[in-house]
Amino acid sequence: MTVLYATLLIILCLILVVIIIPQIIRSLAGQPPFVRTHKRAVSGIVEALRLKPNDVLYDLGCGNGRVLKAAIKGNPGVKGVGIEYNWFPVALAKLNVHNLPIQIRHESFFDCDLSDAKHIYCYLLPSTLEKLEPHLRASCKPGTRIVTCDFHFPTLIPIQEIVLSTAKKGPGKKLFVYLL
Ligand SMILES: C[S@@+](CC[C@H](N)C(=O)[O-])C[C@H]1O[C@@H](n2cnc3c(N)ncnc32)[C@H](O)[C@@H]1O
Repeated sequence: MTVLYATLLIILCLILVVIIIPQIIRSLAGQPPFVRTHKRAVSGIVEALRLKPNDVLYDLGCGNGRVLKAAIKGNPGVKGVGIEYNWFPVALAKLNVHNLPIQIRHESFFDCDLSDAKHIYCYLLPSTLEKLEPHLRASCKPGTRIVTCDFHFPTLIPIQEIVLSTAKKGPGKKLFVYLL
């Protein structure tokens, strides 16, 4: 019994040190924590992206790949790229999108070339969207369609704002659609 309790305690401590404490530090530093897009918002997001065969969809800060998985499963011929700098969601995403045409890249989206992106999804805090905006303007091709959930870019003007009927309150309520 003592060995069992000791093992459980060690596992709990490992989870705390490896997963939870880094999340708290990131949040305190103003960096977006790993929070998944709410399930009820996903179908609305996929619809708003308007994907077509041969398009490439990026999720910047893809978390566990939930949105990419739904988008690619529902749109044969579309390729997905998930960019994520936090190893834990990277590992989850790789498991989650296994066998689908989705590449999960362990890197920061500030360092990645987005010139092949036709569509971009991001669920990020306003402070991060503010830093991301100049990178998108510099790196994306004109015509790139961008969808954000709940938060919007500071100066880019959305072509459409969608209030999701599937989400009456809480997160995952509103989408902002942009065309570069
Ligand atoms: C709010 S979560 C959204 C997860 C996923 N896109 C979804 O909608 O379910 C934001 C994610 O962005 C990641 N992230 C934040 N800054 C990043 C950066 N500079 N480069 C790559 N990933 C980043 C975080 O680790 C976190 O997993």
